[in-house]
Amino acid sequence: MAPMNQWIKIKAPATVANMVCGFDILGFAVNSPYDEMEMRMVPYVENGPKIIIINIDQYNLPTDPEKNVAGAALNALLLEYEEQFSNTTIAFEVKINKLIKPGSGVGSSAASSAGAVVGANYLLGKPFTNDDLVRFAMNGEKVASGVKHADNIAPCIFGGVTLVRSIFPLEIIALPSPELHVTIVHPQIEVKTSDARSILKHQVLLKDAIKQWGNIAGLVAGLMKKDYDLIGRSLEDVIIEPVRSILIPGFDALKIACKKAGALGGGISGSGPSIFMLSKEKETALAVEAEMIKLYTGLGLAHHTYVTTINEKGVEVIN
Ligand code: HSE
Repeated sequence: MAPMNQWIKIKAPATVANMVCGFDILGFAVNSPYDEMEMRMVPYVENGPKIIIINIDQYNLPTDPEKNVAGAALNALLLEYEEQFSNTTIAFEVKINKLIKPGSGVGSSAASSAGAVVGANYLLGKPFTNDDLVRFAMNGEKVASGVKHADNIAPCIFGGVTLVRSIFPLEIIALPSPELHVTIVHPQIEVKTSDARSILKHQVLLKDAIKQWGNIAGLVAGLMKKDYDLIGRSLEDVIIEPVRSILIPGFDALKIACKKAGALGGGISGSGPSIFMLSKEKETALAVEAEMIKLYTGLGLAHHTYVTTINEKGVEVIN
């Protein structure tokens, strides 16, 4: 266990959930952007708070641990810690500097939740497994979107590409991937995950389901076989994207332009509004970025872009 009052620094990566065809089950972490956090254990004072959240960014997110995603995740961790190791008298102080804009669709809430529980686990001497940490962090996703999903949390904690085969009981499979370059554009509009989920149809046609699970299996096989063409062909979503893409200006034109520039494929990142594209070479990823900038500049829509790679480490504790 780390000494009381000793601050640690945490780096929590952004993540791209769904990976086009794998709604709520596939995701990967990226090297940029990422959130920075600092955390320490302090002695618990009777009737005092067990979790103290200090925001050091401009977003004014709630600091009440019940309403803050990192707070909700830490609450779940502390509850289980206290059950297993009675008589604990610790509290956590967390400073959060969000560099991943909330509501951008690249796992901003997951980064806070995952960063907090990985940090707490480190301070406590690592009593919990990564699977446990995903379980705790999902409580943060519940606060953010009303639903416990792990497709951002899992890659944020494990790094790389992950498959959430099941949530109850939790089963996460880390998938290998060949070298991939990722281009992300974040058009500056707001799409709330809860809204983007509420517009989805609750039933799918069997013919669409068959196409979708063919693509998911193809994508997983493509990643494992390092078959870039198979990866590209499998980045197709016939269920979620047709509904959600209407929320994102220029989506269809952007996809066509990026593929023409050489991208393997891509689509909505998580629930949007960010869009991501995968490329085999960095030069292609940069050409894709140029297309994204051209399109959104043409539409007069402010935007941010990132050209990055898959982050294999997940949340990092830096001393
Ligand atoms: N799988 C989730 C969704 C991710 O698409 O709603 C949210 O970031």
